[in-house]
Amino acid sequence: MHTIVILTGAGISAESGITTFRGPGGLWEGHRVEDVCTPEALARDPALVHRFYDLRRAALASVAPNAAHDALARLDREWGGELLIVTQNVDDLHERAGAVRLLHMHGELRSALCAACGTRQAWTGALPPGSACPACGAAALRPDIVFFGEMPYQMERIEDVLSRADLFVSIGTSGAVYPAAGFVRLARQHGAATLELNLDPSEGSAWFEETRLGRAATLVPEWVDAVLAANSPSYRT
Ligand code: APR
Repeated sequence: MHTIVILTGAGISAESGITTFRGPGGLWEGHRVEDVCTPEALARDPALVHRFYDLRRAALASVAPNAAHDALARLDREWGGELLIVTQNVDDLHERAGAVRLLHMHGELRSALCAACGTRQAWTGALPPGSACPACGAAALRPDIVFFGEMPYQMERIEDVLSRADLFVSIGTSGAVYPAAGFVRLARQHGAATLELNLDPSEGSAWFEETRLGRAATLVPEWVDAVLAANSPSYRT
């Protein structure tokens, strides 16, 4: 059976009302990413960084999955072959839509990471700096977000599934951040077909065999319908 690997970025959650990272002005919710998304920022101003992610976590309560999340969850349910949705997003909209074969490579808002022992645990409320880790007791819990300069989660598993992929599809990402931006090349090296669904051409568009431009909530359901109707990972359906 065929293997489909899907990479999603901020664009898939845009129509749910979550702002993308590189919007007009290049700011993320009014902040430069260097000020809220680096280990240096966390060390320099933990109160600011924790508050920033507390607000993002709290905002999840007022958003819902859109038609693109729903379509990917349906594909996950109905695709009989191997499938993995790799998301760069830290929101929980894929899982709330029902996706199961899902991996958050850049961490999750609804999770806390212990900087002392590395334990990750579900976290829903505010996370003040110095919160104690239930596993080891250290006052070292931080947002479970992969900052710039840190290693994304489960890279070995991602590279392994990309090496078997028959189709790699990238949805709603600017292709500006590595290693995710390199997945298309890896998939191609191993012979996968490659398709991009994005609002604007991305930095990596030239690497894809085909790019379809438009909104995720329109393009993704169309593509999923075609794949399931043909029972084939080919996007040329
Ligand atoms: N439908 C489809 N694509 C959209 C939509 C939409 N409705 N709205 C925006 N887009 C596209 C934009 O054209 C852009 O290419 O989504 C992309 C969003 O790009 P970024 O804001 O750069 O987000 P992303 O690529 O996910 O960022 C990658 O950077 O800051 C880090 O760790 C953070 O995971 C994030 C990573």
